[in-house]
Amino acid sequence: MKTKKILILGGVTEGYILAEELASREPFHPISSLAGRTQHPRPPVGETRIGGFGGVEGLHAFLLERAIDAVVDATHPFADTMGQHAALACDQAKVPLLRLERPAWMPQPGDCWHPVADWEQAVAFLQIQGARRVLLALGARELAPFSTLFDTWFLLRTVTQPDPMPPFTAAELLVARGPFTLEQELELLRRHEIDTIVCRNSGGEGAAAKLAAARELGIAVIMRERPQRPSLPSVATVAGALDWLCDQPG
Ligand SMILES: NC(=O)c1ccc[n+]([C@@H]2O[C@H](COP(=O)([O-])OP(=O)(O)OC[C@H]3O[C@@H](n4cnc5c(N)ncnc54)[C@H](OP(=O)(O)O)[C@@H]3O)[C@@H](O)[C@H]2O)c1
Repeated sequence: MKTKKILILGGVTEGYILAEELASREPFHPISSLAGRTQHPRPPVGETRIGGFGGVEGLHAFLLERAIDAVVDATHPFADTMGQHAALACDQAKVPLLRLERPAWMPQPGDCWHPVADWEQAVAFLQIQGARRVLLALGARELAPFSTLFDTWFLLRTVTQPDPMPPFTAAELLVARGPFTLEQELELLRRHEIDTIVCRNSGGEGAAAKLAAARELGIAVIMRERPQRPSLPSVATVAGALDWLCDQPG
């Protein structure tokens, strides 16, 4: 049986699981691609390449050089540049492309969510709302726009150390990697008397406890919505991606 080379654009857990599954199945040969942002990334099972391709042209060239049979875009919901590049390059190279993306969180009864399209809208909303004590549950590189709010106290929860640290007037930094339990989130929100949470709609179980805690405590959530992605075949699970790959001709 002819080997099928599958390029996995990775960056989140689902990409790792898909690589592991494909590596143990005939006729697949997974090639995982990581952006190279993390210093010592966990190596995926199977062949791995690290670093950008050099835009749409670079990815197009890679698809042809390596005779890739199909691509799975398993990048983070907010990694939309890579998603756009993959759609253009695969279209040009006539290589089938699948989007593997965990579903977005949906508000539930009792939630007090305010959707925003970008951080500028979130800053404006915090000002209008008169938020006093805010949890920013964001990436370390996304904090800066909020440091312009001088009358608000911030709890900055990031996975990595912000470098440089934006010049907040009043803030406490908490570098911590989830998942967090509901009890941990309730304790944190109560201890710091948080009145508003700012986060992105990443989806998944690992980061959802803060939303349940906000619901229980009646805390407002400013939720950044996901960027638009190209219209593509899309699945929410690794099992769905495996089915799609098995159905591809060739
Ligand atoms: N954005 C987030 O919040 C977030 C959270 C968790 C994990 N991640 C992961 O971290 C990576 C970078 O995120 P980002 O938001 O900077 O992405 P992005 O804005 O969509 O991509 C910027 C550039 O990084 C390179 N790149 C991104 N993903 C790549 C991959 N899997 N393999 C090879 N090159 C890649 C591409 O460079 P070239 O144009 O040179 O090809 C791309 O144009 C992504 O793989 C993503 O899944 C992101």
